[in-house]
Amino acid sequence: MIDTIKEHIAKVEAFSAETKEAVETFRIAYLGKKGILNQLFAEFKNVPNEQKKEFGQTINQLKSAATDKVAQLTASLENPLEESGKYGDLTRPGNPVALGARHPISIVKKQIIDIFSRIGFNVSEGPEIEDDWHNFTALNLPEYHPARDMQDTFFVQTDPDILLRTHTSSVQVRYMENNQPPIRTISPGRVYRNEAISARSHCFFHQVEGLYVDKDVSFADLKQTLQYFTKEMFGKSKIRLRPSYFPFTEPSAEVDVYWGLETETDYKMTKGTGWLEIMGCGMVDPNVLTNCGIDAEQYSGFAFGMGIDRIALLLYQIGDIRLLSENDLRFLEQFKGVL
Ligand code: PHE
Repeated sequence: MIDTIKEHIAKVEAFSAETKEAVETFRIAYLGKKGILNQLFAEFKNVPNEQKKEFGQTINQLKSAATDKVAQLTASLENPLEESGKYGDLTRPGNPVALGARHPISIVKKQIIDIFSRIGFNVSEGPEIEDDWHNFTALNLPEYHPARDMQDTFFVQTDPDILLRTHTSSVQVRYMENNQPPIRTISPGRVYRNEAISARSHCFFHQVEGLYVDKDVSFADLKQTLQYFTKEMFGKSKIRLRPSYFPFTEPSAEVDVYWGLETETDYKMTKGTGWLEIMGCGMVDPNVLTNCGIDAEQYSGFAFGMGIDRIALLLYQIGDIRLLSENDLRFLEQFKGVL
């Protein structure tokens, strides 16, 4: 008899339930009017006198085990996190989490986005694996155009139509195909060129493209916008535009910002000239507008493209572009706290 009660105690202690209904069934089975405990109590009168004491104690143990179990399960089902004590004291201070750092490319990218968003530019993106149309043909670079050689292209497997984009200008095309003017957008992203890897160049890097298309957009608008940008980005607003050539802009220019020659680093960075080249730009060639479904009689626009990596190297005086993709923590941790 006593052994049977002890088996019940073990069972009660091992019991667990997922639902309130299961707890209630359990309660009725043990503590209900016709439950196991009452049945056992009813046996009490048949127990020989010398065993009555032990019987009574054991049965009381079973009763409190069953009562505790019901109380504990009910509480934990009603308030699963706290009452069960499973998660300890929830008001305790947490463990400190080690702070990471933003990557210098992300820092510079974010600054550029912030600066242009203040004058109404939105952010757009396009795929890194492109087709010939968006990377070349629509941008006024038909097949066999010599300017295609300027950009050593990675082709995907053997299909000459599919390639890794060589510049973010491909996003201009995609954006104009899908949106009518007024257009004010910047497109940051990674680009690829089949170049030898060295301290100064890599086979992948990052650009930000800018595109503004509307009625009566002029070269003066372009220059004002660039001046605003260099002032905000570098704290310097003296710029110069050198005539250049890109197939998708006419006229085209290379933008230099006057960095100054105050320190030895300035001399080094600017090769003694005081000027730093920061981007290419120009008025969108009407052919490009037409290719993308925009009326070139009605609208004009400007575009520019700059290298994020290059700007990060300049701003942080980083001597080797490879550091930007090696993910050496000793390098990355230096940018802790820079937002
Ligand atoms: N796509 C050009 C490059 O990668 C940069 C550029 C963009 C020039 C837009 C003019 C206008 O060099």
